[in-house]
Amino acid sequence: MLVQNVVCERLKIKGRTLLPIVQGGMGVGVSAHRLAGTVASLGAVGTISSVDLRRHHPDLMEQSRRSRDRQLIDSLNLEALRREVVAALQLASGNGLVAVNVMRAVSSYASYVTQACESGAGAVVVGAGLPLDLPELTADFPNVALIPILSDARGIGLVLKKWMRRNRLPDAIIIENPRYAAGHLGAPTLDGFDHPNYAFQHVLEGARELFKTLGLEVENIPLIVAGGIHSHEQVRHLLDLDASAVQLGTAFAVTEEGDAHPNFKKVLVEAKPEDIVTFMSVAGLPARAVRTPWLASYLEKEQKLQRAAKPRRCTVGFDCLQQCGLRDGIGKHGQFCIDMRLAHALSGDVERGLFFRGSETLPFGHAIRPVRELLDYLLGGVTQTRAPTTAARPYTDAGPFRRCISAATRPGAPMPQTDRR
Ligand SMILES: Cc1cc2nc3c(=O)[nH]c(=O)nc-3n(C[C@H](O)[C@H](O)[C@H](O)COP(=O)(O)O)c2cc1C
Ligand code: SF4
Repeated sequence: MLVQNVVCERLKIKGRTLLPIVQGGMGVGVSAHRLAGTVASLGAVGTISSVDLRRHHPDLMEQSRRSRDRQLIDSLNLEALRREVVAALQLASGNGLVAVNVMRAVSSYASYVTQACESGAGAVVVGAGLPLDLPELTADFPNVALIPILSDARGIGLVLKKWMRRNRLPDAIIIENPRYAAGHLGAPTLDGFDHPNYAFQHVLEGARELFKTLGLEVENIPLIVAGGIHSHEQVRHLLDLDASAVQLGTAFAVTEEGDAHPNFKKVLVEAKPEDIVTFMSVAGLPARAVRTPWLASYLEKEQKLQRAAKPRRCTVGFDCLQQCGLRDGIGKHGQFCIDMRLAHALSGDVERGLFFRGSETLPFGHAIRPVRELLDYLLGGVTQTRAPTTAARPYTDAGPFRRCISAATRPGAPMPQTDRR
């Protein structure tokens, strides 16, 4: 009757049996230890976004407040990542999987990857570029799962062939559809998101065809689909198409445990379809976000700014991106400091922030609910009609996916603590 009968055993990564739900990495600071640790504690995959996590640590922020020293900022961010991974693992109590998301396009990509592995993350997930060198970077950490985020079968083929030459395979592949997803999108330009090459069914079939051609069918590499997923019926449908799991971003960002300011969640849940726009990011990739006051005013000036683009110093001395449209004067890229804008959003500054959001509706409309209820709904189709609450419930009352949870978590595991905000 319910989907849990067929899904409990579906997602296996590095020998762990997991619920077929992945909480996508969300920067800056939107998915830190509280969100990722809570998701993992319930037996699913929780992902910490590695970028600029010092913003969650007042002592680290204080040390870099007036600094334009990139090395100092980087070292503080690595310490913040270490703290966040350790705290998430503590919350998870051995359940689920705590992953770290690293964007290929950031300058500190390699050191974030190493720090994630050294801090005990179970998986490294890389998007915003092709992670062709990930096997070399993680050679000393064979137990850490490697998961690339790709949008089409061509990208999957490139990564598979390159990694096979290094005797490594992905432990799972996330297939993110740029037509619906939030944040940076895996398409070269702003038009063409609707291209059938990005449709889930097409990419799933293409990936399976590649596995056959490359002799990888027996490896059972899990395929996880992401972008626009917001209902139990969709989850059922995608699992019927033989996806191993689904990844959601926006729906997790607005849960009670989401690590961003309450204003951040309010902006996301209240956005109307016509408020959600795509534009070129400073990283040279298209992006999707809510047209808040800053973005509306930036978009009015965008073409003028692009025409005037010329190389300059990094606005904040952080040099967060390998290639930055603003700093490097690349006219066809965005012309704003993304680190500053995302940090404003994290702290709830509605006027000045940049609020990434997917294009689709949210499972609970305007309501902010706990992670547990989101998992209940996605896997079991159960919606609660009561008012949002922070009250903890024991696992034994976990609703219709109880059997999945008990397969994926250890009995008697403590409830996650909500220790921030
Ligand atoms: C606020 C926000 C920030 C995001 N930041 C990142 C990021 O830093 N790296 C990344 O790979 N994906 C990022 N994403 C994408 C999500 O991980 C996820 O794949 C995507 O949101 C799925 O689409 P959905 O929002 O429609 O569920 C972000 C999404 C949101 C909503
Ligand atoms: S100017 Fe560019 S490189 Fe510097 S912090 Fe901002 S986005 Fe990053």
